[in-house]
Amino acid sequence: MIHIAVFISGRGSNLNAIIQAISDKRLDAKIETVISNDKDAAGLLIAEQHGLNTYALSPKGMNRAQHEEKILEHLNQFKLDYLVLAGYMRLLSPDFLKHFKSEHGHYNVVNIHPSLLPAFPGTDSYKQAFDYGVKVGGVTVHLIDESMDRGIIIAQEPFPRFPDDTLETFTQRGLSVEHSLYPAVLQQIAKHGIESKPKQKLNK
Ligand code: GRF
Repeated sequence: MIHIAVFISGRGSNLNAIIQAISDKRLDAKIETVISNDKDAAGLLIAEQHGLNTYALSPKGMNRAQHEEKILEHLNQFKLDYLVLAGYMRLLSPDFLKHFKSEHGHYNVVNIHPSLLPAFPGTDSYKQAFDYGVKVGGVTVHLIDESMDRGIIIAQEPFPRFPDDTLETFTQRGLSVEHSLYPAVLQQIAKHGIESKPKQKLNK
């Protein structure tokens, strides 16, 4: 069993998929708390409907360090194995991440990204890929490091783009891949932990 905190900023469909996987016993995890940087995030309602602890804090009026300090204070009341980012739209600073450093040197912070990284990092990645004209979309689950969308890749799954796809149908196909992939990868982590391998350097 792994103890996790799920970080969201919006809709919460991945949070929902994780909750379902736990309740179907496909995922041996306990969500200790759900963190949001937006108190109006729809995902908070999903969390509350399932009786989960939530903590929503807008960063307005504070700097990054102050915001992260408050989140850390909240997280410190739980014994957590992993932070699970599910649509969390803020970068986490090295000062924050260092609290989650594993004995293997990586951070125990996992993210899901809606493209086959390193293609289409950043935001709106389904739209970026669709507009680019890809024939294959994909989803990546990766570890967070100090850079954006560049940590060690744990799993990737492609999906096809069909000729009559709209951005909506393409996105829906991707989201359903996310909803099966993320809980499955988290279950692998629950069973085997994370094996950290150094990232290959492509350019020096
Ligand atoms: C997902 O596409 C995820 O890959 C990305 O942000 C989106 C979050 O969606 N990081 P939801 O809030 O889980 O529905």
